[in-house]
Amino acid sequence: MSWKTRFVTQFPAKVPLMAAPMAGVSGGELASEACRAGALGFIAAGHMTTDSRLQELEAEIAIFRAKATKEAPLCIGWIGFSSFHTEQGFDIYERILKQQKPAVVQFFAPAISYHPTTGKSNVEIAKEIGNTKVLLQVGNVKEGEEAIAAGADGIIAQGSEGGGHGLRREVGNGTLPLAARMVKLAAAAPHKPLVLAAGGIADGRGVAAALALGCDAAVLGTRLWASKEALNKDVLKQQLVVTKSGDGVHRTRVFDQIQNVYLNPPWPEPYDSCGALRNELSEAWDGKPSELAAELSREGSTVVEEYKAASKKGDHSQAQVLAGEGVGEIESIDAAYEILMQVDKEAREVIANLPKLL
Ligand SMILES: Cc1cc2nc3c(=O)[nH]c(=O)nc-3n(C[C@H](O)[C@H](O)[C@H](O)COP(=O)(O)O)c2cc1C
Repeated sequence: MSWKTRFVTQFPAKVPLMAAPMAGVSGGELASEACRAGALGFIAAGHMTTDSRLQELEAEIAIFRAKATKEAPLCIGWIGFSSFHTEQGFDIYERILKQQKPAVVQFFAPAISYHPTTGKSNVEIAKEIGNTKVLLQVGNVKEGEEAIAAGADGIIAQGSEGGGHGLRREVGNGTLPLAARMVKLAAAAPHKPLVLAAGGIADGRGVAAALALGCDAAVLGTRLWASKEALNKDVLKQQLVVTKSGDGVHRTRVFDQIQNVYLNPPWPEPYDSCGALRNELSEAWDGKPSELAAELSREGSTVVEEYKAASKKGDHSQAQVLAGEGVGEIESIDAAYEILMQVDKEAREVIANLPKLL
């Protein structure tokens, strides 16, 4: 039986699933396997700030094109604050739209960026150049309203239980209430954008819950980071299997406070927090931003150098391992195609069983 949600009728997908763009994790191989399973598979552009970053993205796109069928939609996700920090970032964006002709583009942190000279938004540019579908990822209702007003084709409601960067806990919403509200607001808008739920969804039960709320699709991040095709260090990936529940995850500012010492541009407030596995470093400093700031500015502090060395080595007691609260449902590192087929099957079973509750 085929799905009938608007995601499969209006977007180039066969199942109501999206493989999130995850910087450093989602390359051409993961995206092409997601497409093979009928989902939208994203390649992460991440911080698309320089021509060398563009070359890395082009290499992943080449892998995608070599592995995927000709019809498979190219989908690319940008991190806004860094990619559009300068006019050069907009030039690179326009070049990608013209040369690679992606079917769908996605943006977050922030979802909307304006060209410093023309004043045009990233959404307008995508529509003008390629009539490309645009998804905007938001973390609270205010951001969601702005994304609807900007003309997005779809809104991704990213709850604070999600893995990776997102709004600070104090300004972000949970996945269920945010998605529920966005469904109502989107339905009331003239162009009726789609709504996707993201954050803490790691199996078919979560997908069925998102669809029951009125969402058109669900986004999987952490579940696919724990896939064979995901890039990044295996030793860190393995921690997603070792962690037995969401108790092992927190939304913390610790890693961003440390990384912001050397990142240019730094992650800006309110996006300077992430869902990550608890470890010795994050437990030591979580909830103590002033103390950590004092330590980072102290002459002779070794925190940054130790953190860099641990990240390079893949020492998970110190390094950042991004993960959402659904991590407990992950029992093994599997092929992305198998994960998505299993999640799809499970969602269908859950939905088929629901009438028995009445
Ligand atoms: C390792 C990792 C990297 C991520 N990188 C990005 C990114 O580059 N761009 C983006 O829009 N979202 C990124 N996210 C967030 C995802 O888009 C998505 O909102 C989130 O993973 C959903 O929650 P879940 O991890 O619980 O499934 C990342 C998430 C993870 C786990």
